[in-house]
Amino acid sequence: MHQEFGHPKIVVLTGAGISKESGIDTFRDADGLWSRVNLEEVATIEAWHRDPAKVLDFHNAGRAFFAGRNITPNAAHRALARLEHEWPAEVLVVTQNIDLLHEGGGSKNVLHMHGQAGKLRCMACETIADSDAELSVTTACAACGVVGQTRPHVVWFGEMPLHMDAIMAALDSCGLFISIGTSGAVYPAAGFVQHVRRKRRAHTVELNMERSDGYQTFHDGIYGPATEVVPAFVDDLLRGRTSHA
Ligand code: APR
Repeated sequence: MHQEFGHPKIVVLTGAGISKESGIDTFRDADGLWSRVNLEEVATIEAWHRDPAKVLDFHNAGRAFFAGRNITPNAAHRALARLEHEWPAEVLVVTQNIDLLHEGGGSKNVLHMHGQAGKLRCMACETIADSDAELSVTTACAACGVVGQTRPHVVWFGEMPLHMDAIMAALDSCGLFISIGTSGAVYPAAGFVQHVRRKRRAHTVELNMERSDGYQTFHDGIYGPATEVVPAFVDDLLRGRTSHA
């Protein structure tokens, strides 16, 4: 996409905080998922090799949680969709979230760097399938028939995030980098702000409930619930009331 004069390309990095007010817990807040579950046992590639049944049980529990609730996009997701549609240059959302609330809110240009719900992947043949099926160690891959190698299409600790080439290319050409609802604890996402500052001197802003681990690296910080601060920030950007340079 081209860059309109005065309107830089935008990359928006999102994390669990943007979906909190839709009813999905974050990971590292006091009531976050990792305060209840040991991530080493359910969200690492080593855990999959050691005890796949436990990893799949965790996946099945998450799946049941989502299925049992009416989880819908909130005002922050919708505001980012509006930004994509009304901003004259490209807006890319790079999300660490596996939920589909950006798409539900109307965003079209979204990359899920940690995978996404509703997809399964076979470790034997690498086929990715649209499926929300419950998994067990006896599940057979629909494509190759191998048993016990079908897993959720999510990135566990110890694995390479997805779409990194496209993400790095977008970071290298953006003029505004916005980080929303992420603690800055997990790399490589946590390093994007340093990357854009080093490479391009892009303007960088974080919108979060509280200061993230790397807040000093951002030019600006706006703190509060995503459903309040994101729509207001998008409004200001679209009306030219905020600096993006
Ligand atoms: N509005 C804005 N920010 C919020 C809100 C809210 N309503 N509620 C919480 N936050 C902020 C918290 O203050 C915190 O800084 O969201 C951030 C969430 O941080 P984490 O729980 O660490 O989530 P995230 O940064 O997305 O985690 C990154 O870690 O375990 C993994 O793979 C998982 O993708 C995830 C990755």
